[in-house]
Parts: sequence; C-alpha cells; structure tokens
Amino acid sequence: MGANKFGPPGWQDDPQWRGWWGTNPPFHTPTFVLTHRPRPSIEMAGGTTFHFLAASPSEALDAARAAADGQDVRIGGGPTMVRDFLAAGLVDHMHVVQVPILLGRGVRLWDGLEALDEAYDIETVSSPSGVTHLTFTHKVVS
Ligand SMILES: NC(=O)c1ccc[n+]([C@@H]2O[C@H](COP(=O)([O-])OP(=O)(O)OC[C@H]3O[C@@H](n4cnc5c(N)ncnc54)[C@H](OP(=O)(O)O)[C@@H]3O)[C@@H](O)[C@H]2O)c1
Repeated sequence: MGANKFGPPGWQDDPQWRGWWGTNPPFHTPTFVLTHRPRPSIEMAGGTTFHFLAASPSEALDAARAAADGQDVRIGGGPTMVRDFLAAGLVDHMHVVQVPILLGRGVRLWDGLEALDEAYDIETVSSPSGVTHLTFTHKVVS
C-alpha cells in the first residue's frame, strides 16, 4: 500500500502511529508500505507485519513476492500507488468498484494511463446497490 492509505498526512512524524486498523489489522500477512520516510517494521496481532520501504514498484513487488513465497501478492491502493504499478505493467488482475457518488476532486486513478484498456480484458457487472464492478485481466495472463 501507499503511505496515504497507511495513515493521514504526517503520520511519519508520529512514532506511535500503527495504521488505522487497531491491534489486529485485516491483512494477516506481511504488508509493505511504500513511503519516502521508512521506519522499522511493526509486528501486529493476527499475522500482519508492516514493513516500510522506499523503493520502485518493481523492487517493492520483488520484496512482496519473496515474502509471499509463491502465493499471490495483492496491491491495495491508494490511487497514486496503483497507478504507478499499472504504468509499470506489474498488475495481472484488477478489481475496481465504481460508486455513483460525485466527489469532484481527489487523486485520479486513470491519469497518464491512456490506452490501458488495450492491454486488458475488461468485464463489468452492475449491482442493485448502484455500484459497478470492473474486472481487468491482463491479456498476457488471461
Ligand atoms: N478509501 C481508501 O481506501 C483510500 C485508500 C488510500 C488513499 N485514499 C485517499 O486517496 C487520496 C490520495 O491517496 P494517494 O494516492 O496519495 O495514496 P497512496 O497511493 O496510498 O500514497 C501515495 C504516497 O505513498 C508514498 N509512495 C508511493 N510510491 C512510493 C515509492 N515508490 N517510494 C516511496 N514512497 C512512495 C508517497 O508518500 P510519502 O512521500 O509521503 O512517503 C506517496 O505520496 C487521499 O485523499 C487518501 O486519503 C483512500
């Protein structure tokens, strides 16, 4: 995940900050946080250990792959980090949930990714709640 998913702006100045999720975060795996201000790893209850690194997307993916030991690696946001991994061609599958709420501002997931759709098979499913699920599968993988 990116630094802004792990905490609010400036969390790096708070030595006590351990993420939003309480003592037992929902990840239950080694979890890598990309930040330009890394700190020592934090072991949480339930199998989550946060590791902090300043690295390129492909270096971060290598570290996560080594920790996953053959299992899948999940990239969890925020939008800046997802965009960088997409631009580097490192995403096999992506699930985007589009919610019909107009915020009108924020970090845009698609900026700089023109023609991304050509590299992926895309399926959409709408649900009665109004959200649309978009599933992207890289054509090299499918
Ligand atoms: N709803 C959600 O689940 C969710 C999740 C995430 C974000 N958001 C929201 O989305 C908005 C934008 O988020 P965002 O796109 O900024 O989030 P983000 O992708 O989680 O964080 C981006 C930050 O991660 C660090 N980073 C990214 N790549 C790096 C690299 N290669 N090396 C070192 N550090 C790296 C940098 O922070 P530093 O330079 O500060 O270290 C960068 O500013 C915010 O308003 C946020 O609250 C929502």
